[in-house]
Amino acid sequence: MIDILPPDAVQQLQQTLDPERFTHSVGVMETAFRLADNWKMFPVDRVQLAWASLFHDCAKNLSKDERHRWLNNGPLPYGEELVPYSKIVHAPLSAKILQEVYGIHNRDVLMAVAYHPTGHPDLAPIGWMVYIADYLEPGRSYFSKREEYLHTACAEPLEGLKLVTRLRMEAVRHKNKTQHPLAVKFQQYLESLESLQVQQT
Ligand SMILES: [Fe+2]
Ligand SMILES: [Fe+2]
Repeated sequence: MIDILPPDAVQQLQQTLDPERFTHSVGVMETAFRLADNWKMFPVDRVQLAWASLFHDCAKNLSKDERHRWLNNGPLPYGEELVPYSKIVHAPLSAKILQEVYGIHNRDVLMAVAYHPTGHPDLAPIGWMVYIADYLEPGRSYFSKREEYLHTACAEPLEGLKLVTRLRMEAVRHKNKTQHPLAVKFQQYLESLESLQVQQT
């Protein structure tokens, strides 16, 4: 599955991530593909899905200096509102690196990466898949119901998104951190829906 992407790009990613983070990224890719296999109603380009899922954390292991260098290196494609939050700043930075270093300009891919920690009402199906897969990939086996949750997400995309949003928010609460306003907005958006619709852009 990973061979859908240029080998030199995968190798470069592997060199910039620690082994655990790379394994997590491969797990996210496999899980995102599993969702795509099941969500026949939301067909996606597999190459774009591979870029978004495998590279969603590509800025995660940057040093503080490198982070600042990237932040001072022109505007971010998406996710400026996540920058003040140290835990999730890697997401918009990963989108920036995907654009600048790997030459990916697809809106759905860059948004999926930039907003993978919070979600966003304007995400496309690729974004929904990465958002769910990031939380339910095989490495997250500490969730006793991981496989059951993933099964639900495969069968009912909207339920899957709501479920992962709840899990993510519980985790934030557990750490006594405040929810990012965008995460709250995404949850409210999901709760307001009867069914998932692809936004026309
Ligand atoms: Fe992340
Ligand atoms: Fe991740």
